[in-house]
Amino acid sequence: MADDREHRRQGIGKELLTAGIREMGLNDIDEFFPYANKWNAPALSLYAKLGFVVIGELPDICKEGESCYKMRLELPTALF
Ligand SMILES: CC(C)(COP(=O)(O)OP(=O)(O)OC[C@H]1O[C@@H](n2cnc3c(N)ncnc32)[C@H](O)[C@@H]1OP(=O)(O)O)[C@@H](O)C(=O)NCCC(=O)NCCS
Repeated sequence: MADDREHRRQGIGKELLTAGIREMGLNDIDEFFPYANKWNAPALSLYAKLGFVVIGELPDICKEGESCYKMRLELPTALF
């Protein structure tokens, strides 16, 4: 998921991710495991706000030579 740079910090990322999570819930998906570069403060902050927790750290997944957090969201959440 990525927003155009000029449209960031307007709530679009949160809206998109919330819609995606809602759709997963409607399709009986009860867990979601995204990865995020550990230096990606905007994404990590967004994920934390939506209830994702860090469950591990893996090298070379998002970018060679860098580490990523593996995150987990259990559905349903308090979002809806
Ligand atoms: C991550 C991304 C999708 C967020 O989209 P966005 O539309 O800017 O996010 P929103 O405006 O909905 O912000 C929601 C929350 O995200 C966090 N956030 C967004 N941009 C941030 C920034 N520059 N610094 C810190 N936190 C940030 C904040 O917690 C924010 O809540 P707040 O506005 O109440 O502080 C966007 O930064 C992006 O496209 N990044 C490049 C691609 C990417 O990294 N994708 C994720 C890969 S794992």
